[in-house]
Amino acid sequence: MTSGPLGIVAALHEEIADLLAEMAPGARVEHLGMRDYHVGRLHGQDCVIVLARIGKVAAAATTTALIHRFGVSEIVFTGLAGGLAHGIAVGDVVVADTLVQHDLDASPLFPRFEVPLLGRATFDTEPSLRDALAHAAREWLAQEMPNRVAADARSELGISAPRVHVGQIASGDQFISSAGEVARLREALPQTLAVEMEGAAVAQVCHEYGVPFAVMRTLSDVADDAAHVDFPRFLRDVASVYSHGILARFLSARS
Ligand code: ADE
Repeated sequence: MTSGPLGIVAALHEEIADLLAEMAPGARVEHLGMRDYHVGRLHGQDCVIVLARIGKVAAAATTTALIHRFGVSEIVFTGLAGGLAHGIAVGDVVVADTLVQHDLDASPLFPRFEVPLLGRATFDTEPSLRDALAHAAREWLAQEMPNRVAADARSELGISAPRVHVGQIASGDQFISSAGEVARLREALPQTLAVEMEGAAVAQVCHEYGVPFAVMRTLSDVADDAAHVDFPRFLRDVASVYSHGILARFLSARS
């Protein structure tokens, strides 16, 4: 049983722009810590939507405010990621089952990746939230994506038959864009599917406050030397459409 609103967080404006426009008519905006928190109703759910900006500190600060000031009882992070595992492609969706900070290393004092004095390296998402997101993503990709993302954008960005994967996401304060970094991360964290810059920070704060959370990422690149090339186009033509379509379906299914 949940009591507070659902927090919806993204790192980039495009990822929440359509949700904000949809919620705008009855919503109020509260400005706190250089961020706008949009409080309102969306598809029958009380929501607080906020742009966290990029990186782990930004995500952690925003998550803390959502919990303390806005009393959210669940949090969903939506955004983009780079694919790390073999066999996953641009346009696929990754829903995290667990998250780790790939750039956290206080060895030899603590094992690599372990959050010092917390005694753990990985944080699990809430099973019911991640299952609902993965289900919404699968349905939306199969039923609506071809009508929502223009055919020329799909072919130019190499999106053909996108799939949904559930697995580990690794976060760090780095945009990964070289084959060497990909090889090092694959070796260090072999079970990781995708890399991004916020999810594990949200995960740690939610763990510390006992707030259920989930993270959903659309793959904009495969973290190689070309990772940055199509990023702005992907953000404009694909990311906003995926995020809005999948979250609208996820919210409707809950009400
Ligand atoms: N977000 C999207 N692509 C990314 C990458 N290659 N590295 C880190 N964050 C990302």
